Amino acid sequence: MGVGLEAWYIDSSDEDHRMPHKLSPNQPVSLEELQKLGVFHWKLNADIYETDPELEQIRKDQGYSYMDIITIRKDTLPNYEEKLKMFFEEHLHLDDEIRYILDGHAYFDVRDKEDRWIRIATTKGDLITLPAGIYHRFTLDTNNYTKAMRLFVGGPVWKAYNRPADDFDIRKKYLAFLQAS
Ligand code: LAC
Ligand code: NI
Repeated sequence: MGVGLEAWYIDSSDEDHRMPHKLSPNQPVSLEELQKLGVFHWKLNADIYETDPELEQIRKDQGYSYMDIITIRKDTLPNYEEKLKMFFEEHLHLDDEIRYILDGHAYFDVRDKEDRWIRIATTKGDLITLPAGIYHRFTLDTNNYTKAMRLFVGGPVWKAYNRPADDFDIRKKYLAFLQAS
């Protein structure tokens, strides 16, 4: 596991969701707490992502056979507004969500055991994995830009199931994991 990932509980204000939304005083969340939710993280050198042996090793070990690169910015992403709106809807996937931030900034919000939102701030060099079945959402910050590698085990499935999606086996499996962790 790496360093430099910052996470915190967020407030419930209606202000622009691209703002940090830290509580006052701030309530930070450690990497260990994130691990208990099944969220994992590596810090890599994104300047050399095209030839990085460390990334190669992770992909080999974890079976991340598929990858593509998405640039989330108004002028590069078709249907930008619509997609960001979808990304910020609370949802789950039937597979792990694996993102390697190559440039810019992004927030991944995940639910903790008590259903409280934790905001995870990612920036260049952060590779983060969200487990299948966890409720989460995604937003840019006020820089409005991120370039990310999307990784996947096997052929990619980007389907998102908006909450409520509690009847999926993967959701039940995830809840059982939470109970045990
Ligand atoms: C996704 C992120 C936005 O599903 O959660 O691609
Ligand atoms: Ni997602």
